[in-house]
Amino acid sequence: MCGIVGAVAERNVVQILLEGLRRLEYRGYDSSGVALIHDNALSITRRVGKVKALSDAIEALDDQGTGATGIAHTRWATHGGVTESNAHPHVSQSRFAVVHNGIIENHKSLRDELSALGYRFTSDTDTETIAHTVAELRKSTPTLLDAVLESVKRFEGAYGTVIIDKDDASTMVVARSGSPLVIGLGIGENFIASDQMALLPVTRRFIFLEEGDVAEITRTSVRIIDESGNEVEREIVESTVEHDAGDKGGYRHYMLKEIYEQPAVVRNTLQGRVSPDGIGNDVFGEGSDAIFAKTEHIKIIACGTSYHAGMTAKYWLEAYAGVSCDVEIASEFRYRKSVVKPNSLIVTISQSGETADTLAALKLAKESGYMSSLAICNVDGSSLVRESSLSFMTRAGAEIGVASTKAFTTQLAGFLMLVLAIGKQKNMPKDIQQHILSALTELPAKLEETLTLADEIDHLAEEFSDKHHSLFLGRGDQYPIAMEGALKLKEISYIHAEAYASGELKHGPLALIDAEMPVIVVAPNNELLEKLKSNVEEVRARGGIMYVFADKDAHFESDETMRVVNVPHCLESIAPIVYTIPLQLLSYYVALIKGTDVDQPRNLAKSVTVE
Ligand code: AGP
Repeated sequence: MCGIVGAVAERNVVQILLEGLRRLEYRGYDSSGVALIHDNALSITRRVGKVKALSDAIEALDDQGTGATGIAHTRWATHGGVTESNAHPHVSQSRFAVVHNGIIENHKSLRDELSALGYRFTSDTDTETIAHTVAELRKSTPTLLDAVLESVKRFEGAYGTVIIDKDDASTMVVARSGSPLVIGLGIGENFIASDQMALLPVTRRFIFLEEGDVAEITRTSVRIIDESGNEVEREIVESTVEHDAGDKGGYRHYMLKEIYEQPAVVRNTLQGRVSPDGIGNDVFGEGSDAIFAKTEHIKIIACGTSYHAGMTAKYWLEAYAGVSCDVEIASEFRYRKSVVKPNSLIVTISQSGETADTLAALKLAKESGYMSSLAICNVDGSSLVRESSLSFMTRAGAEIGVASTKAFTTQLAGFLMLVLAIGKQKNMPKDIQQHILSALTELPAKLEETLTLADEIDHLAEEFSDKHHSLFLGRGDQYPIAMEGALKLKEISYIHAEAYASGELKHGPLALIDAEMPVIVVAPNNELLEKLKSNVEEVRARGGIMYVFADKDAHFESDETMRVVNVPHCLESIAPIVYTIPLQLLSYYVALIKGTDVDQPRNLAKSVTVE
């Protein structure tokens, strides 16, 4: 999704801005641009396509891009097509330059008003209304900060925005509402970005702006005004994110690197929180055990892959801890009227912690009377973590590939710990507790063992590359894993993939089966195995070709209609995590053969900060 970088310094900042944009490339975008102030003049360079096209264009300029104050942006189109004129920064009066993440929902009425005042629009974007609104209000206000404080009162929707004024190169003004912004503090220079990753080469000291904040940033000062209009101090946070988190570490793609990191990051996620003797106290935040003791119902809200983690957790929470649970897509929950059951805990899951729909759903849940809120998240200091009463960090490290892999498996490990933590308060039977503890203890080694299937899956992928459709099947807690497998395949290989609980086959999807529609089955050796085998026979009888990821003891044999890959045997509760690995590898190798952009698949963004 869109990315923002800005700087006020004494040195030329163009390379800092471009490097910042490169570090945000993983988030997905379609065009980019830079605005620089130099000698009281504003220079704008914008290009469609990759940041490389922008940096080449800047290099070709007479001054190769000069300016000690500048802002830069990667755009993921929402309003207006992918064109140079729609790329940011947008300019008003050849004086004010603006970059913006989010959507100004009342842009049409603002556009009419500003046009009537004589402002000429040169793009189809909602963002241009910000530039002209600030320009208009700057006429009647003493400073740029005042103009922005007045302007934000007129904006409806979500924004993280940065504005510079060529007549005052010493200052940039930023505003946050529904779209994250972080101030990076340097020595005699300061920065702004939508994600700290962009600024790690220049600073490790950050201030995370809060909802409604407007800030004036100069080389040596930061002034923050909160949504009530009061000047406030915000905590300075020392970043723990690794500087080289954006390095592929010798792997061909970030996604592959992240797949292989899973044993280590799952181990990190478990470390110090769970031991063979049991789960620690208050692992989910101060006071969490007391809240779990009172919890009678859990509502899980998330999007995409994180939603699949929530769906898996529902099976576990009800089966193992005996706590009722339902799971909902955040974009649905936020726009419907729902009933809050007594003593309900809302659990949100998000890799980024900045997903607009999940944040809005959490806000609604808090207003609707949920007893408490827990965020399971991979980014410390993210909006979701800050806005929840309890939090649990998944310790997956920065996930760069748009296709979520290690974030998912660490979320699942976190959920098994949640089962233990809640189960401890609910007298979960000792044998179940022992089973989960043993399973978690063996989990990192099982993931390592499963990764050795890579070559076998690489060969199998060749049979997929000419297919246009596929069907993923699973039962019980493997049904969400089939859904996640289908999502991975479609998002990076562009092969249409659907997932079904295999008991549903005969209720419709069986009509799709033929030799051109590969059917992928996840088949651990559990109590549903015989039911699953019947579903496999239904597919075979209709000429379907199957790829079965199965426990050796499940006794599937390869033949002309079925290719079987034996997945290492594991304890039942961790099977959804273990069976995720071959499906990730399958998607990766199919995408590789198809030659798609594995790490930045078309049309997608890493962190979906607009609704
Ligand atoms: C999965 O591969 C996707 N990148 C996507 O579905 C993602 O999980 C979803 O957008 C939610 O993101 P979040 O976990 O950061 O909230």
